[in-house]
Amino acid sequence: MKIALVGYGKMGHMIEACAKAAGHDVVATVDVVAKDATNLVAAGDYAAVADAVKKSGAEGVIEFSHPTAVMGNLNALIPLGIPVVVGTTGWGDKEAEIEALCAKSNGTAMRSSNFSIGVNMFYKIVEEAAKIMAEYSDYDVAVWEAHHNQKADSPSGTALEVARRVMAGNKTKTEMVFDAFHERPKANQLHVSSTRVGFVPGTHTVFFDSPADEIEVTHRARSREGFAKGSVVALEKLSAKLKSGELKSGALYGMSDLF
Ligand SMILES: NC(=O)c1ccc[n+]([C@@H]2O[C@H](COP(=O)([O-])OP(=O)(O)OC[C@H]3O[C@@H](n4cnc5c(N)ncnc54)[C@H](O)[C@@H]3O)[C@@H](O)[C@H]2O)c1
Repeated sequence: MKIALVGYGKMGHMIEACAKAAGHDVVATVDVVAKDATNLVAAGDYAAVADAVKKSGAEGVIEFSHPTAVMGNLNALIPLGIPVVVGTTGWGDKEAEIEALCAKSNGTAMRSSNFSIGVNMFYKIVEEAAKIMAEYSDYDVAVWEAHHNQKADSPSGTALEVARRVMAGNKTKTEMVFDAFHERPKANQLHVSSTRVGFVPGTHTVFFDSPADEIEVTHRARSREGFAKGSVVALEKLSAKLKSGELKSGALYGMSDLF
C-alpha cells in the first residue's frame, strides 16, 4: 500500500520503519520542521499538507502530529477521500466535528488514543476489575499516568479512556477530576493524575485502595513500536474493510470497529 505520513517526529519515523518492514511504500512524509521529511510545509498551511499527500499518490494517510495541528490537518485530509488513521491525541472534545466532516465529504477516518494491542486488552481488564471492585464499597479507585517530558497534552488520551472504562465498570464514579486538585475528592469523583518526566513512552496505572490493601493494575509500554505497528495494521484493516464493503466511507471509526 502507498502510505503518506503527516507528522514526521518520533512516531512518524517509527511508523515509517514499521510500514516498510510490513512491505508498504512510504510515498510522502510531511512535517513543519523535520528537515528529513520529503515535504516541509509552513506551520498552519493545511492546504499544503493535503496537496503534498494528494501529489504523492498515497492510498492512505497516518497522522501523528501535534494537538494544535490535528484539526487543521484532518479538515484538509479527510475530503481527499483516502482513509486517514489518526494517532494524535488531545482533540477528543472535537470528535463530533470530525464525524460531521466525514459524513459531509464522504471521507473516512479512524482514531485511537492508543494503537497498542496490549493497551486495548488493558482497557478490558480495567473495566472488568472496576466492576468487580465496585461490589466492595471499601475499595476506592484512582488513575495515574506517566509520559516523557516532550508530551504536549495532559492527561494522556489513553488515561482518559482508562478513566472512562473505570467509570463504565464502577457506576458510583460519575465525574473525573484532574491533577491540581486541592480538596478532598467526593465519593463520586475519580481522580486522574499525570506525571511528565524524562523518556517514559507511556505508563498507566489503576489503583484500587482499601483500608486493608491495595491492588494496582499497570500497563507499561517498553517502546513506541507497539503504537507504530498498531497504526499500520489499523490502516491496512480500514482500507481492506472499506474495499470489501464491511465498513462504509463517510464515518469516523475506532479500534473496536477494526479488531
Ligand atoms: N495514538 C497512539 O497510539 C499514540 C502513541 C504515541 C504518541 N501519540 C501522539 O501522537 C502525537 C505525536 O507524537 P510524537 O511523539 O511523534 O511527537 P513529536 O513531537 O516527536 O512529533 C510530532 C511532529 O509533528 C510535526 N507537526 C506539527 N504540526 C504539523 C502539521 N501541521 N503538519 C505536519 N506535521 C506537523 C512536528 O513538527 C513534529 O515533527 C502526539 O499527540 C502524541 O500524544 C499517540
